[in-house]
Amino acid sequence: MAEKTWVRMVTAQTPTNIAVIKYWGKRDETLILPVNDSISVTLDPAHLCTITTVAVSPSFDQDRMWLNGKEISLSGGRYQNCLREIRARACEVEDKEKGIKIAKNDWEKLHVHVASYNNFPTAAGLASSAAGFACLVFALAKLMKAKEDNSELSAIARQGSGSACRSLFGGFVKWIMGKAEDGSDSLAVQLVDEKHWDELVIIIAVVSSRQKETSSTTGMRDSVETSLLLQHRAKEVVPKRIKQMEEAIKNRDFGSFAQLTCADSNQFHAVCLDTCPPIFYMNDTSHRIISCVEKWNCSEGTPQVAYTFDAGPNAVLIAHNRKAATQLIQKLLFCFPPSSDADLNSYVIGDKSILKDAG
Ligand code: ADP
Ligand code: DP6
Ligand code: CO
Repeated sequence: MAEKTWVRMVTAQTPTNIAVIKYWGKRDETLILPVNDSISVTLDPAHLCTITTVAVSPSFDQDRMWLNGKEISLSGGRYQNCLREIRARACEVEDKEKGIKIAKNDWEKLHVHVASYNNFPTAAGLASSAAGFACLVFALAKLMKAKEDNSELSAIARQGSGSACRSLFGGFVKWIMGKAEDGSDSLAVQLVDEKHWDELVIIIAVVSSRQKETSSTTGMRDSVETSLLLQHRAKEVVPKRIKQMEEAIKNRDFGSFAQLTCADSNQFHAVCLDTCPPIFYMNDTSHRIISCVEKWNCSEGTPQVAYTFDAGPNAVLIAHNRKAATQLIQKLLFCFPPSSDADLNSYVIGDKSILKDAG
């Protein structure tokens, strides 16, 4: 008779986050330690998120992972680092109903299977690596009953993808670059929770869901090696902006928030252009969105909407309130009529969404 076996499974859902003060550049590639602090806003998990199921069973003979239904290799250092760090913190697990008893030392021998789905474009500049690695680390920690809190887990998620450390919290989150050589103080902290500034409405304009040509990892490596602007940004510009951004968030000062967010996005893309060879993440449609928002903000006298673009052409638009969001949508629909051949083929809008995916 075949030996009775078991499977223990945990599923987690994690939102993505979009930086308003960008992380771009590492001082340590292996540990993923950044050259500057960064601040992000975590999106509503109902919209852009990763769902990951992790399973462990004595019948699994190797660690395996499927991303969006396709098997991927786990041999890369980043996946191995996350698995190793969580395994090292694994605790005893007992489930009498299912007849499962896993001693602390057993985790070294047991293998895991991982199935992960992103409900938004992967590797298209909407921070799939952030939601993806945060979710993986969180799900593994639950599976193995690790006792670490979210900040401690953020330092592990960071070793999967830097931006992932910020997805362990909701609201506005700061990734403190830290000083320690072993990276132990390079982790995320929540600045304010999602209720603090709940009149903001975030609108994602998907300009292209295609996979980017230069991954964030490769892009920032080239920037660190070749861009003088990056050095200036990390040393002189970001430290001041971080302080100003923290103040703007604390005081719900939308004017300063918008000015800093747009300026930081533009400087990040300027660093990409200052890189050799130059990296073009934004396209003509992205530039048209910027012009549209800039003109509108200028005509209103005070900013109504902030824009920010990660390493891809897709726009993240943060409206001051619902009224500004409604006007913004009208403007976007006017400039990029859905019936035309405009590149802008889908809008994902705040909590009430118009989702028009044309491809
Ligand atoms: P993005 O702008 O989407 O974050 P990156 O170039 O930073 O793009 O990272 C994309 C990579 O992140 C993918 O090629 C994959 O290796 C990893 N990734 C994306 N989604 C997940 C996920 N759900 N689980 C684990 N890793 C993921
Ligand atoms: C432009 O975190 O994707 O989105 O650490 O190499 O995985 P790795 O890079 P990643 O870079 C994100 C860059 C950014 C800005 C940000 O999220 O702060
Ligand atoms: Co990424």
